[in-house]
Amino acid sequence: MKLWGGRFSKATDSRVDDFNSSIRFDARLYRQDIKGSMAHAEMLGRQGIIPPGDAELIVKTLGEILSDIEAGKVAFEIDAEDIHMNIEKILIGRIGEAGKRLHTGRSRNDQVALDLRMYVKDEIDAVCGMIKNLMHALLDIAEAHTTTVMPGYTHLQKAQPVTLAHHLLAYFEMFMRDLGRLADARGRTDVMPLGSGALAGTTYPLDREFVARSLDFACVSRNSLDAVSDRDFAIELLSALSVAMMHMSRFCEELILWNSHEFGFIEMDDAYSTGSSIMPQKKNPDVAELIRGKTGRVYGGLMGLLTTMKGIPLAYNKDMQEDKEAVFDAVDTIKLCLPVFTAMIQTMRLNTGAMKKGASGGFTNATDAADYLVKKGLAFREAHEVVGKIVAYALGAGKALDEFSMDEFKACSPVFEDDVYEAIRLEACVAGRSLVGGPAKGTVEAAILEGRRRLGPR
Ligand code: ARG
Repeated sequence: MKLWGGRFSKATDSRVDDFNSSIRFDARLYRQDIKGSMAHAEMLGRQGIIPPGDAELIVKTLGEILSDIEAGKVAFEIDAEDIHMNIEKILIGRIGEAGKRLHTGRSRNDQVALDLRMYVKDEIDAVCGMIKNLMHALLDIAEAHTTTVMPGYTHLQKAQPVTLAHHLLAYFEMFMRDLGRLADARGRTDVMPLGSGALAGTTYPLDREFVARSLDFACVSRNSLDAVSDRDFAIELLSALSVAMMHMSRFCEELILWNSHEFGFIEMDDAYSTGSSIMPQKKNPDVAELIRGKTGRVYGGLMGLLTTMKGIPLAYNKDMQEDKEAVFDAVDTIKLCLPVFTAMIQTMRLNTGAMKKGASGGFTNATDAADYLVKKGLAFREAHEVVGKIVAYALGAGKALDEFSMDEFKACSPVFEDDVYEAIRLEACVAGRSLVGGPAKGTVEAAILEGRRRLGPR
């Protein structure tokens, strides 16, 4: 018999049981569900809403059920629909009458909202820990490469020289904002919905603040209809995870390029590459590709839940049961990706010679040649034009700028003097960009130090 079977005269069709049931995926909320029920039961006892002895027995038995689940001794039933009713049914099976008092002043609607909020808070903490590990790894590599010159790109065309450290710090900033987004989302998730009942609150004198405190929530929800029917906190999580995946995916795309024979800037460790079943020479960056690919499913979860929610009238509707798989899959996916991504970058070999060489051809110092002329008194537009002509000539002659003779320079503009060679040296180009946010060694060293401080201890 169903826990809600009183008004029914027929059993549910077995196809409907199967269709309606969420236990296949919401079983993983067992810990949150039990902890929430413990706090609720304790509060019911303290308020004299149920006999304190019953409350104690419920709490004790829920503790035993928790250990049994963790020991793999509990089999859930499709018939009992979801994790909430499965656990309640097991409880009632063990202690009868007292167990039947647990659901006083509560609905599965506020219960599931509570469980999911607890889950999201825990997982945000876990994901943030993994992002921080990745960020520490970035700083470690950056620290060793503040003078490793490489080409910076726009339009995937060589643009201006930067350093590997500077490039990595760009990702550090992106992941820092991801931490901020997740912390923001966590703040709005940290709201305790029990006491909202099915939709309209409850007539029992519940102590909502007590429940919030015992479950480590910052506050209680302010509107019962809202508390049981919005999933914006889950959407915010999916959104923040989507952005973090997008960042990781871009990074992977770069690593895949850098790892190619054409770039040769890095070589993935054998332990983080795979071979081809037909082409014996191949060593493929599958890990990076798979992270790039998995980004799609996290976006999918976000779009899915947004779409699910967009037409639902207040308050709870069963559509909302569809929230969980999206959230679980996104969390599982990013938790799978982050550690393997971190290990992959920690083990990749950096070919600093190829990076330097990449920065050397392709006129990455052309802007600095123009800036040189500006410092000698030319207007920037004029200098731009002169250097543009120089580049056109150099392309024809098959030379780099620093391979020009003084006569060649002079032929382009009489303003050029011997000090131009120093001005367009790649290292000098980098060193000159010492404003906050720039690639100069001292600036980047300070940014790394500041990054460690912002990140806190490992
Ligand atoms: N399994 C349901 C869910 O995930 C729990 C809430 C069900 N409430 C209800 N009135 N049917 O959303």
